[in-house]
Amino acid sequence: MVAPAGVQRGLEDVVALESHLCFIDGKLGRLIYEGYDIRDLAVHSTFEEVAYLLWYGRLPTASQLSDLKSRFLTLRTLPEALADQIDRFPRSANPMDILRTAVSSLALFEPEETRPGPSSIGGAQRLTAVLPTIIGRFAARRSGREPVGPRPDLSHAAYLLHAFLGREPTELEARAIDVALILHADHELNASTFAARVTASTLSDLYSSVTSAIGTLKGPLHGGANERVMEMLDDIVTPDRAEEVVKARLSRHERIMGFGHRVYKVEDPRATILRGWSRRIGESKGDTHYYEILRRVEEVVHREKGLYPNVDLYSGSICTLLGIPHDLFTPLFAASRVAGWTAHVLEEYQDLRLIRPTAKYTGPVDLTYVPIGERGQV
Ligand code: COA
Repeated sequence: MVAPAGVQRGLEDVVALESHLCFIDGKLGRLIYEGYDIRDLAVHSTFEEVAYLLWYGRLPTASQLSDLKSRFLTLRTLPEALADQIDRFPRSANPMDILRTAVSSLALFEPEETRPGPSSIGGAQRLTAVLPTIIGRFAARRSGREPVGPRPDLSHAAYLLHAFLGREPTELEARAIDVALILHADHELNASTFAARVTASTLSDLYSSVTSAIGTLKGPLHGGANERVMEMLDDIVTPDRAEEVVKARLSRHERIMGFGHRVYKVEDPRATILRGWSRRIGESKGDTHYYEILRRVEEVVHREKGLYPNVDLYSGSICTLLGIPHDLFTPLFAASRVAGWTAHVLEEYQDLRLIRPTAKYTGPVDLTYVPIGERGQV
């Protein structure tokens, strides 16, 4: 659909604000957090370090990082009333609905943390530390397991996997998820971050902003795409069927999940890194069939549509091989992006301006009000 003059549908190419957090070079396929290329961060850094970078604008010293890790440990525990509430939620509920509701409920128990303003950094750390506990508790209860407690010896990524799966991950598994968390931590004004900033721009609180963001991330055009990639892989089954299945979907004008991007016009650099991890995890499990199918899918989609992979193409295969249920992929994404959401909200509070665009009105004017009894059936 062509946009009428003066209208940027989907706010495409609209520069809405200034930010020093994250830079995407869509032409060169680069992603930068506070000056650092994610290709370096994915090799040398950890999620905790990246969260610190986003919140404070610089990499931590060893003692600052150690303090943050200790803080995360104390902030992982849920208020008992909220834990009870999660235990009573329907087991069949969508985990993103659980997460949204639980974050919203958490604000009831932590009014201090919810106050808007630069001091919300405490709330940012609280939410980042506690999201894996919320999701993990729900995941445990619905599969009849006891939820795990905080473990001082585990990194954030390892704790998250432990909470989600109820088993201790291997070092390689924990590192794969650590890298995934680093790569998902921020992405400029993506839809959920924008939603968070819009909420914060009304001087609403951090927990409300993150609640808005979780609701926005839930949509399949944003957070749910990797789940849908896995559905396609289950449909394809073997690499030799990739061409036939992809072409059939394209001929029905279906979108192939995990491809295309509003900003990247070349390969998403996160896809490049996760492709390597998909193969590595596949090899470690003795099962590279997802990787092989995805390589074939890439060839066909590029040939037929000229589209490049985005971050969602390979992430689902890694999570599936680790045993993460498909409906926990988007909550896992949220558990990473919360660092970016909160950093953006803090930035918004520093330079607050109500975000309120305008719409081009296309309806009638000057209609005469007709009393209800005199209106005919339409
Ligand atoms: N599969 C098939 N065709 C696609 C496509 C995909 N994944 N992504 C874009 N296209 C096509 C559109 O059909 C459209 O074709 P047309 O001009 O012939 O109608 C053209 O490319 C432009 O698409 P448009 O929707 O305008 O681009 P966008 O910038 O709004 O879309 C996405 C960005 C991410 C919403 C889109 O690429 C998409 O839906 N991808 C699949 C979902 C996904 O992987 N999301 C995760 C994003 S990280």
